[in-house]
Amino acid sequence: MLASGTGTNLRALLEDPNVGPCVVLVVSDNPYATALERARARGIKAVVLEPTRYASRAEFDHALTLLLDDEAIEFVLLAGYMRILGGEVVRAYRDRIMNVHPSLLPAFPGAHAVRDALASGVTVTGATVHLVDEEVDHGPIVMQEPVLILPADQEETLHQRIQSVEHRLFPQAARLLAEGRLKVEGRLVHVLDGD
Ligand code: GRF
Repeated sequence: MLASGTGTNLRALLEDPNVGPCVVLVVSDNPYATALERARARGIKAVVLEPTRYASRAEFDHALTLLLDDEAIEFVLLAGYMRILGGEVVRAYRDRIMNVHPSLLPAFPGAHAVRDALASGVTVTGATVHLVDEEVDHGPIVMQEPVLILPADQEETLHQRIQSVEHRLFPQAARLLAEGRLKVEGRLVHVLDGD
């Protein structure tokens, strides 16, 4: 699990009885990320990889790939991870990396999705869980759910409602990924029946 911030999605994943026990490593580029404390409090290995310690993005990416490999990580979940994932990790974990984003992609990609949706005048936005490819907020979509924008909404109130949707969708999608029930065909993700 990669996170840079408060880690409320990490909390939701850890609280899910099917997904929680599978979380074995939390990595952050931010030593002050609350996500790290949440992991440590549960006895989960928490590692800081600081980008400034590496000469280039490629070196940072290589260190991250080695770490995931050392820990025999099978799937990678991104929640509020504020760095663009490098090509080496994406190639090593093709279709095994999932991100959660606070808009209905492909609308409003990028770091200010909630603010951008509000400023654009749309009346509906939402949450997206998608697989990660080489482009930002771009890979095949696994799950989406709309959230209505209310006239009185500010960025914070809208983001809170979107996050409560994320906290429900992300564990469901993570479980499907871990169970090998996501079949990717180009841009389309098919959910296979469970046993
Ligand atoms: C979430 O809203 C996610 O969609 C976005 O960053 C936020 C992370 O929140 N990519 P948290 O750290 O899980 O609380």
